[in-house]
Amino acid sequence: MTPIRPRRLRAHPMLRDMVAGVRLSPKDFIAPLFVRLGEKIKNPIVSMPGVFQMSPEIAVAELKRLQQLGLPAFILFGIADKNKKDALGSHAHDPNNAVCTTLKMAKDAGINMLAITDLCYCEYTDHGHCGPLTPQRSVDNDATIQRLGTQAVVHARAGADVVAPSGMMDNAVAAIREALDADKHADTSILAYAVKYASAFYGPFRDAAESAPSSGDRKTYQMDYRTSARDAIREARIDEAQGADMIMVKPGIAYLDILRDVTDAVAVPTAVYQVSGEYAMIKAAAANGWIDEKAIALETMTAFKRAGASVILTYHAAQLAEWLR
Ligand code: PBG
Repeated sequence: MTPIRPRRLRAHPMLRDMVAGVRLSPKDFIAPLFVRLGEKIKNPIVSMPGVFQMSPEIAVAELKRLQQLGLPAFILFGIADKNKKDALGSHAHDPNNAVCTTLKMAKDAGINMLAITDLCYCEYTDHGHCGPLTPQRSVDNDATIQRLGTQAVVHARAGADVVAPSGMMDNAVAAIREALDADKHADTSILAYAVKYASAFYGPFRDAAESAPSSGDRKTYQMDYRTSARDAIREARIDEAQGADMIMVKPGIAYLDILRDVTDAVAVPTAVYQVSGEYAMIKAAAANGWIDEKAIALETMTAFKRAGASVILTYHAAQLAEWLR
């Protein structure tokens, strides 16, 4: 019997390229940006090297750079000054808040990337939870989803192409879809954070967005990572049935099994979020000279696509676009 030699396909670099099932492109990535009201603000986030809190005009200058690098999309996270926070997160609905101001300034500056906004209240509430609380201090699900509809409309009016509810409230997608359609925004898409686990990997983000809960944790709304993939599939299918245009799995690297199972279970495209803690780990190890940052980032992104993601949210987006040029 002739021996079978899998190494033959690896012998020539051209052949390796040709049979590579997964190819990366700058078009795969969505760049997250943190915006706050003010001028000339560019505050570094210590645990996320290369990521900044920016005032709107600085964010727009950054968007010009990202557009030139060939990135197709950005997602905005709004940060509220302490004195603007209240129990309801009212500032989230202010059409002059940092997110809306940045959206308008980006349009005026001729940025033609896809504009995505995160829909949540944790950056806007004085207690840091993802919606108003009941007297028992649990997030009031049905009050929150009504408010999310309003927040979605405020963002759509300011120019958001896609809204991304990240609070893990039941039936948020249906409420948002209804509110958008009623305000004549039938073309505004919903990227649902359908499968989002209560994760320690969000630590650096909460410093960046100043959104850590002042007491308790998010385990009554975000998912328990000890549950089986069936719980993830259930969440994904519920959001798909309510009209989500895309389904997100979050975090990324520790949840590749979930990403694969969810991608196979829904008909809409899936997105994955490589979150702040994942980025921080790569940056910290690279800064020590312990790993090769570029090689690790490319390998990780390839794993996300291989596991089924159509799009990837990553703080490495700009660097990846440069590396892939
Ligand atoms: C807001 C939100 C969070 C992240 C995205 N949207 C934080 C949280 O749920 O506490 C985390 C993103 C990251 O860690 O990079 N609800």
